[in-house]
Amino acid sequence: MLNHKTLTNLFLILLLSLQAVIGQENKITIHVNKAKDTISKHIYGHFAEHLGRGIYDGFYVGKTSEIPNINGIRKDVVEALRELEIPVLRWPGGCFAEQYQWRDGIGPVKDRPLVVNTFWGGVTEDNSFGTHEFLELCELLQTEPYIAVNIASGTVKDAYQWVEYVTSDKDSEITRLRRKNGRERPWDVKFWGIGNENWGCGGSMNAEYYTNVFKRFSTYCNAEYKIASGGIYDDLEWTKTFMTGITGTPGYLNIAHGLSYHYYTIVNNWEVKGSATDFVENEWFKSMQNTMKMEGNLEDHIAIMDEHDPDNTIALIADEWGTWYDVEPGTNPGFLYQQNTLRDALVAALGLNIFNNHSRRIKMANIAQTVNVLQAMILTSGNQMVKTPTFHVFRMFKVHQDALHLPSEVTTQNYKNDNSEIPALSVSASRDKSKNVNITIANVDPNRNLPTSIEIPGMENWGTITASIITSDKMNALNDFGKEELVQIQKFSDYRMNTSKIELNMPSKSVVLLSISDH
Ligand code: AHR
Repeated sequence: MLNHKTLTNLFLILLLSLQAVIGQENKITIHVNKAKDTISKHIYGHFAEHLGRGIYDGFYVGKTSEIPNINGIRKDVVEALRELEIPVLRWPGGCFAEQYQWRDGIGPVKDRPLVVNTFWGGVTEDNSFGTHEFLELCELLQTEPYIAVNIASGTVKDAYQWVEYVTSDKDSEITRLRRKNGRERPWDVKFWGIGNENWGCGGSMNAEYYTNVFKRFSTYCNAEYKIASGGIYDDLEWTKTFMTGITGTPGYLNIAHGLSYHYYTIVNNWEVKGSATDFVENEWFKSMQNTMKMEGNLEDHIAIMDEHDPDNTIALIADEWGTWYDVEPGTNPGFLYQQNTLRDALVAALGLNIFNNHSRRIKMANIAQTVNVLQAMILTSGNQMVKTPTFHVFRMFKVHQDALHLPSEVTTQNYKNDNSEIPALSVSASRDKSKNVNITIANVDPNRNLPTSIEIPGMENWGTITASIITSDKMNALNDFGKEELVQIQKFSDYRMNTSKIELNMPSKSVVLLSISDH
């Protein structure tokens, strides 16, 4: 006969086994001994185009503005972005790069010509923010510049003279012009883009034609690291044609160092992209699902690059990525201004985990676009500024910059919505120079907390663990002007460590960073 005590014990055993089963469904194994690749810090890069209020109002308010500034560059924005340790900033576009005439943006501001920004809103561009201003911004941010040259409406001579103007320490008419404009020493600019989206806004070229144009421009641009335009995200033929054409060219290692890749997360289609803030769970699901699709797509491009470049000499550069919604109602449709919610934080975490996990070939990524445009870090309104949920993800994930990537194996429950399902957990891990292991985990399921176990075979010294989290009660929680910051980094304590294992309860719709010190 079973007495009360035995029954209670049996019940407890049953409960524990059930927990163990559930726990087993969500299991992360981090392989310290299989580490090979470094996560390039440039994966944490950003993009800033002459588009909407990204440059003007966002970064640059002009020297006479009442908003505190350094030579016209907003102090509050610089101070906030310094927290992210931005490693690289891409400029001046985007599509705008292919209409940009760099000479319009140098010399006394009063003499700079007014032009029309035909790509973005048809607004007048007064060229007050040009090469010197951009490079001063990069100095203030302590970031490396990445300049995209115009190959669609500019000449080879325009392009190579821009490189010379910026980087040459020789004496020439062009470098004298730079000195006359107030800059004695050249700037150290390593990264140069040879065009942008040349399949579309950059001249509607086909892959073969572009490859030849690239070779011509790149041969003359005397720059350290040159990045070619990729095709539309799913155009594998473009990647094949470029890789075949370039690796078949003698001395190609001097002209091609990276191939660009653009991928935007949209919810429905390009006509109806959905609201940034007013969405239902199915739209949250699609944002996650469509971001996850980027991984397979990247792997397809990487497979082609591996075939043509087995020594991994040409990098894949994801120099535009992020969410793209319908613009905020009442704003200029050409300005691409959108708010940013907890959903964007999860998308950012998924994207960064994907890039970290493919860091053998992916050496740079630039989220679009830093301030006031698309999935921004910062939004401004007059003299006010907010840090978006995406900002906080970049602040949390900066521990991975230049750290050793640790491969991870993930067993996860699925997040189901309607008739579809996707993995609920996304993970990446790295070991920094002090040997601390940093693990970033996202749970995209907005309804379920997930009991999860983490094992790190090969990690000898388990020191202390610290943990932080980004989450909120609502899927569309956001940070708004003049209001309390609802989405930010907070301390997380719902985990336990047992000798060589961590058990945590991974909250729904959250991003967590676990840091384990080496001693
Ligand atoms: O980021 C906005 C635009 O998206 C860029 O100008 C272009 O390159 C892409 O199509």
